Amino acid sequence: MKVIKNAQEIQRFVLEQKAKGHKIGFVPTMGFLHEGHLSLMREAKRTTDINVVSVFVNPAQFGPNEDFETYPRDFEHDKQLVEAAGMDVLFYPSVEEIYSDQDLIQMTVTKRTNVLCGTSRPGHFDGVVTVLTKLFHLVQPSVAYFGMKDAQQVAVVQGLIDTLKFPIRIQRVQTVRESDGLAKSSRNVRLSTDERQEAPVIYQTLQWGRDLMKQEGLSMSEAEKRVREKLEASLKLGKVDYLTILSYPELEPKETSGEKILATAVFYKNVRLIDNIIISHQED
Ligand code: PAJ
Repeated sequence: MKVIKNAQEIQRFVLEQKAKGHKIGFVPTMGFLHEGHLSLMREAKRTTDINVVSVFVNPAQFGPNEDFETYPRDFEHDKQLVEAAGMDVLFYPSVEEIYSDQDLIQMTVTKRTNVLCGTSRPGHFDGVVTVLTKLFHLVQPSVAYFGMKDAQQVAVVQGLIDTLKFPIRIQRVQTVRESDGLAKSSRNVRLSTDERQEAPVIYQTLQWGRDLMKQEGLSMSEAEKRVREKLEASLKLGKVDYLTILSYPELEPKETSGEKILATAVFYKNVRLIDNIIISHQED
């Protein structure tokens, strides 16, 4: 496996591969890799010929009071995992390689961000689309792999691809969970023992909500209220940031016969956890 840190070098590499007729798969990450990231890599290995993983903790998507400096990092371990997953390239640029004082374009997402994590993290998705636009230009993938753990991110990135007409297909990958249902996350290491014990109730409540929405003909807002109350009553240490039901991927509070998302974020002392379930009518 090649480790590439330089922007021109990765561009050169992918152009050579494309000239040979290979399709490029791309798994963008911020590192501190776990089973969730590995499932994206497995999917990439199954689908595309040459696969690139990026590890880049993107300062632009962290707010001033967020955890950019303390975001967990372990490059040597990440490198071992990416190599063992059979990936061809690990792209590991410095911040200076991606951002320059000379940058003169600022990106703003205008839809799908006034809800869920967009409200709690102003500017976050602007930073996500900015870095992904840069990375997509460097890596030029045919397919990019994203986890449904961050379903709003998937909806926004799909919007980015449609808006800028990138010739990229997004492949959604299901959320990987601990055996007790907690969604795997690089930030789970910040939970105290007691918080870790409580946290599985988040996913249990989402499942309860999904069943409620399927059984009873409740409106989205009534269902939302009942699931939120249930979650609030189940949490002793955590505090609900939001619990929302919206159409997916539009993320609008309108009744729809298409997919819906039931999504939540919960604050613990040192970490905010997110989780969601997509509800599609076809399963009914
Ligand atoms: P990061 O949080 O490192 O996540 C990288 C990818 O792994 C995302 O697509 C995310 O949804 C996926 N992922 C994380 N936990 C998962 C889980 N438990 N199951 C399945 N997939 C999971 O998301 C980012 O980085 C950044 O915003 C990025 C897209 C790299 C842009 O900077």
